[in-house]
Amino acid sequence: MCGIVGILGAGPVADQIVEALKRLEYRGYDSAGIATLEGDGALDRRRAPGKLKNLEVRLSNAPLRGAIGIGHTRWATHGKPNETNAHPHASERVAIVHNGIIENFRELRDELAAQGHVFATETDSEVVAHLVTAELDAGKAPKDAVAAALPRLHGAFALAFLFAGEPDLLIGARRGAPLAMGYGDGEMYLGSDGLALAPFTDEVSYLEEGDWMVLTRHSVEFYDESDRRVSRPKQKSLASAFLVDKGNYRHFMAKEIHEQPEVVGRTVAHYTDLSAGRVALPFELPFDPAKLDRITIVACGTAYIAGLTAKYWFERIARVAVDIDVASEFRYREPPMSRDGVTIVISQSGETADTLASLRYAKAQGQKIVGVVNVGSSTMARESDVQALTLAGPEIGVASTKAFTCQLAVLACLALAFARARGELTVEAEARYVAEFLALPGLMAEALKHERDIEAVAHDLARARDVLYLGRGTAFPLALEGALKLKELSYIHAEGYAAGELKHGPIALVDEDLPVIVIAPPDGVFEKTVSNMQEVAARGGRIVLIGGAGGAEAASLKLHASIVMPAMAPTFAAIVYALPVQLLAYHTAVFMGKDADQPRNLAKSVTVE
Ligand code: F6R
Repeated sequence: MCGIVGILGAGPVADQIVEALKRLEYRGYDSAGIATLEGDGALDRRRAPGKLKNLEVRLSNAPLRGAIGIGHTRWATHGKPNETNAHPHASERVAIVHNGIIENFRELRDELAAQGHVFATETDSEVVAHLVTAELDAGKAPKDAVAAALPRLHGAFALAFLFAGEPDLLIGARRGAPLAMGYGDGEMYLGSDGLALAPFTDEVSYLEEGDWMVLTRHSVEFYDESDRRVSRPKQKSLASAFLVDKGNYRHFMAKEIHEQPEVVGRTVAHYTDLSAGRVALPFELPFDPAKLDRITIVACGTAYIAGLTAKYWFERIARVAVDIDVASEFRYREPPMSRDGVTIVISQSGETADTLASLRYAKAQGQKIVGVVNVGSSTMARESDVQALTLAGPEIGVASTKAFTCQLAVLACLALAFARARGELTVEAEARYVAEFLALPGLMAEALKHERDIEAVAHDLARARDVLYLGRGTAFPLALEGALKLKELSYIHAEGYAAGELKHGPIALVDEDLPVIVIAPPDGVFEKTVSNMQEVAARGGRIVLIGGAGGAEAASLKLHASIVMPAMAPTFAAIVYALPVQLLAYHTAVFMGKDADQPRNLAKSVTVE
């Protein structure tokens, strides 16, 4: 949530900052802004509400020419998403950009207001600019002013500071939100992630929790939270290897949906020895899966839904019980955990505040942490005992698609590895499952061929007020995912239910106007789902079946529409059936004229609770 960037450049930096902000816009797009030091060493700013393109218009009408600057793209927490509340916030002496929440901002604001500081915004962040200004006014040098201010801030932050009259100085700090710095040739950069800095450099260092840093064009000094000088390794950022553009697609989301056969294939290949027909994890497990009587899975949103799907695999194939919870509940629930247990956290960004807090809780309880994470340089990846990386590449569309199916692929491989270690898997069964993995990319490519049929259904859904999704087994989490995707992209109200729960309440919603999307691969519970479809049909509900080739006939019901998936073994079918579910939400949103890449009110990396 919120992206920050800072550049010490060799020439005017405004264009570079905009370029970096484009790569951070997935973190929020309520407003954007830039501050630079202009010729006389004075701070100047341009800010605009809404998406980055509004700021670009403002900059083209009134350019900034400074060779040092900071920029911000906002996901609003405190204060409306208007120009006044847009970052950078500034006094005459310092401008700041902030990602996170300053929890004690009211107290600090009262204190500073009593000293005569006048606040212009409704934000929590502005207090940081005033706090540092007060320290500068007391005679401190910029570095000492920041060092004095940071311990007074409660909450989470990644911050960048730009000082009037200091054309060769940027300061950055992190606590609870990520921050990277990049090395250039006579230039230096800071940003919320390596992706933002990729157009300028592939040499980066990541700040550790509590760190802050002092940057000039030719040097960087890192300090830990006790203000001790520390060194942070210079690393090669993989981000520059990834092209961040839409190719021939209209939206990143469409491109990312279509990339899934490739990235799931790549992920599966990384976790298996396909020729030997065995799972081959690319890391040692620092625990013995045979000794576990249960595992815990924690995540948020779509990543949680991946975990819920994996519960079926861990329980059925590896015969290990799974506790699963959304991270925002788990972290405050204080569940008892055994000292030698295992917790799996799942996160695309690796920075989601609630999942990170859950990871730390489980670790403090003595659990070993397996992090199923897409961003290898993220905080969760670094704090996990096992980095189980998904190889989806950067996901720019705010709604998770390819990260989800890659999470499913990694979790399926982990379930098989646990099953083998627990003596629950014969060599033949393992080879059969691995052969099913091998088939996934082809099946996914086949599923994508049905896009036209899906578009036709989407055209119809675009007129709905409410939509119900139903499924059993691993199709139940997919029903939740379908409803989540549809509501976040199209703003149509949607609910996902276990099909068997229908008669316990939601059936009251069913009438001639209600589209009911039934996800029913031909598996062991198909017949049960057909019974639930009968219940919907009897009440006039408009059933759309996502199922196998014979599904519609087998159901022998009047269906409103049917989306036919290729024939496949049922165990990991969810990885393929996810695609029509995603496409349905995507096309509905596009028909309705909604921005599928940047749905309203959302951001990709949720670093606030
Ligand atoms: C929905 C979506 C979100 C994320 C959730 C967790 O399409 O993308 O629900 O899955 O915010 O994010 P990560 O995976 O980064 O922890």
